[in-house]
Amino acid sequence: MCGIIGYVGSRAAVPILVEGLKRLEYRGYDSSGVALVGSGGLSIAKAAGRISALEQVIDLDAPQSLGIGHTRWATHGAPTDINAHPHADSSGRIAVIHNGIIENDRALRTYLERKGVVFTSETDTEVLAQLIGQLYDGDLEQAVREALREITGTYGMAVVCADEPNVIVAARQGSPLIVGVGKNEHILASDAAAILAHTTQVVFLGDGQMARITPDDLKLTTLDAMPVANDVEKIEWSLDEIELAGYDHFMKKEIHEQPASLETCLRGRVDTREGVVHLGGLVDCARDLVRAKRIILTGCGTAWHAALVGEYLFEELVRVPTEVEYASEFRYRNPIIDDGTVVIAVSQSGETADTLAALKEANQRGALTLGVVNVVGSTLARATDAGVYLHVGPEIGVASTKAFTGQVTVLALIACYLGRRKHMSPAAASQFIDALEKIPEQVAAILAQADKAEVVAEAYCKKDNWLYLGRGNNYPVALEGALKLKEISYIHAEGLPAAEMKHGPIALITEAMPVVVIATAGSQYQKIMNNISEVRTRGGRVIAIATEGDREIAKIAEHVLYVPDTIEPLQPLLTSIPLQLIAYHAAVLRGCNVDKPRNLAKSVTVE
Ligand code: M6R
Repeated sequence: MCGIIGYVGSRAAVPILVEGLKRLEYRGYDSSGVALVGSGGLSIAKAAGRISALEQVIDLDAPQSLGIGHTRWATHGAPTDINAHPHADSSGRIAVIHNGIIENDRALRTYLERKGVVFTSETDTEVLAQLIGQLYDGDLEQAVREALREITGTYGMAVVCADEPNVIVAARQGSPLIVGVGKNEHILASDAAAILAHTTQVVFLGDGQMARITPDDLKLTTLDAMPVANDVEKIEWSLDEIELAGYDHFMKKEIHEQPASLETCLRGRVDTREGVVHLGGLVDCARDLVRAKRIILTGCGTAWHAALVGEYLFEELVRVPTEVEYASEFRYRNPIIDDGTVVIAVSQSGETADTLAALKEANQRGALTLGVVNVVGSTLARATDAGVYLHVGPEIGVASTKAFTGQVTVLALIACYLGRRKHMSPAAASQFIDALEKIPEQVAAILAQADKAEVVAEAYCKKDNWLYLGRGNNYPVALEGALKLKEISYIHAEGLPAAEMKHGPIALITEAMPVVVIATAGSQYQKIMNNISEVRTRGGRVIAIATEGDREIAKIAEHVLYVPDTIEPLQPLLTSIPLQLIAYHAAVLRGCNVDKPRNLAKSVTVE
């Protein structure tokens, strides 16, 4: 959603800010703006729409070497030029950019209006700017500190002042901020992607921390002015990973990166010969995990689907009752957390508001909490007791692809790690790990036949309703396939456990309807073949995802996309790939904006 960039150093700020804003575009936004401070004071430029609209209204050759920039995703007030950030106080000397939501903005607005302040926008952020302006008495850091004492809500924010042309003050409460450390310069951002072109050395701000940033100094304190010393950390992502590298879209690139991303995810974590999984992030809590009586997996969207796959893995390998909860439901439903309940939050970004709130609830109720997260240093990673990173590299396309397979892989690793400590024999664990290690090359084999998925997309991309059916481990894949298709191609699609079709949705099946059926070899193969017959009888067009070598299925399905054979619990890692490809090609053929679908943001950081 919203994005923050700030620069203070010796170079001209504008090119760095604009490039940073472009790197943040993938998060979703509807307006953008910058504020610059120099000898001539404070200047602000902002525009609704794409960053190209902002480029029309700023001086791209401006000499100032201090500035802040913002991409806004409207919450308080329409996406207009006026509501875009930065927001200035009435004196026009202070400018603020802000991610998050100020919950007591109404009360503060009324208070300030009584003092004669005239507001120009409908935003909660302007309240912050006006409040800081009222409190400013020659020390920006102090004014921000005092203002934040009055604020309830969440923020990642940055403030500049015409009277302090060398200083950016930033603060974080629930919305990420990172400071990139360069040579005589600092770059502030809400996302590492905006910093990587300049430095990989970063300092993560923690919740309740403030930063006073000048070209050669970074002072960190708590909101109560107590000094803090966060380590300088290295971001492992490279610039190549956040660029298109010749691909038409990030989604396509990320689909094709999966053999490599899964290999990285597994690297150093498995030992087939010994039948052992090494997960450094779990060592400190391994004893408590082994004693767990119940596991709750939680997340949103694709992460929730990965969690559903995890449920099958945990019950099969760990033999502990496992439930999956939408994070948005968990947080509000007075969840029962007993002694021995472990809550595992699954997330690519580690910044999804509902998942963070569910985690907070779990922490407050005393659960042992784990994170299965991609973004290193994210809020979720910091708020869990322990966890395992995906290490699949940055995911820029809004549609989650390599993060899904990374999440499933990590959940499979955790399941095997715990299973082996409980009742799994070394031989069984070796067999499981052996199958897991083959997955990257098997994914590569599926991708080598990507054109077959394109043929399917071509045949049916004009159909406005699709069904996806799967059973057992592949039921969550049916949900994920349908989500992929609808979010990027705007085709209505529903995913179902195949047997549920008979209880209502079968009424939808006509000759016009494509039905994707995941029908790989395994314990439910015959059942799913029966489901295919039911669809065919009603004239539905069956696109089957089947195991290589299955010739029977070609006789009853219109199209078959084959995947290599693997053990049933790991099939989702393979069967999800053709579904990602179908969704991608359908969206391209329909002329949709694949990487930035309408109304969607990469990280949903508001409720
Ligand atoms: O960053 P997270 O994994 O927490 O995001 C959760 C969902 O918002 C996300 O998976 C969403 O459903 C994707 N756009 C789906 O492709």
